[in-house]
Amino acid sequence: PDRYAVFGDPISHSKSPKIHQLFAEQTGQSLQYTAERVPATQFTTTANTFFAEGGKGLNCTIPLKELAWKYADHKTQRAQLSGAVNTLALQADGSILGDNTDGIGLVTDLMHNHGITLKDRNILILGAGGASRGIIEPILEQSPQRLVIANRTVDKAIELAQVFSQLGTLTGCGYDALSGQQFDLIINATSTSLTGDLPPLPDQLLAKGGYCYDLAYSNQPTPFVHWGLANGAAKSVDGLGMLVEQAAEAFYIWRKVRPATETVIASMNSQRG
Ligand code: ATR
Repeated sequence: PDRYAVFGDPISHSKSPKIHQLFAEQTGQSLQYTAERVPATQFTTTANTFFAEGGKGLNCTIPLKELAWKYADHKTQRAQLSGAVNTLALQADGSILGDNTDGIGLVTDLMHNHGITLKDRNILILGAGGASRGIIEPILEQSPQRLVIANRTVDKAIELAQVFSQLGTLTGCGYDALSGQQFDLIINATSTSLTGDLPPLPDQLLAKGGYCYDLAYSNQPTPFVHWGLANGAAKSVDGLGMLVEQAAEAFYIWRKVRPATETVIASMNSQRG
């Protein structure tokens, strides 16, 4: 069978092998997908070996997405601006294509799985690191009324807003500047959930009936998911659906077959501890 893998460090808790196994069974595709712990210092040599030995495609996760962006021979437009690549695909001519399916995975999960429209909404992204960069373009494509990026280090939020300024209206600011503002959708793209923290969010930040979405996922609700529920969110969910949707997009790039995600999300949800 054709070989695929996810590289990252740490990687032992990766759900990607299970997700791709379910996709392969569902679509009748014959493939092998493994998870390999690859530290940043060994990424290039390990990826070279993987493709030299016949591997067809890789997913790359923390801390390898920026390295994968540099590694790709050519990139899709959405990967270009995001500065990060989570999917590498061997092409017929032997070159390696780099794509970033995280943003489309988020937008698909929001819109199709949770019924949350982005058009004309006031949207706030928390954080201005790599995770934020990957989701801005697909969100702007949905024509929100306003997109604000708030970050602890204010300059990074302002710089990030400038990078995408030709694609839509967005601004960067610090957390202090959020007082008195309201948003219909707040997306947590900081790394705080991994450490059990939460950015400093003012009261009344979430509009009545608004939504909260944490890019992180965990077996227990994250601090930000809790914050959303405590602040009257109509829905406050974590990124498990995004994980499955970005995987489906990668599977499609590799196999040219689009798996159905609903049953796979249900299955992954039922396996939460
Ligand atoms: P990733 O690739 O996951 O986005 P990153 O590029 O290191 O990782 O970015 C981490 C993000 O989480 C940043 O926006 C960071 O804010 P700073 O740019 O000010 O460092 C944010 N972050 C991390 N810990 C935080 C905390 N305790 N409170 C608020 N923001 C935090």
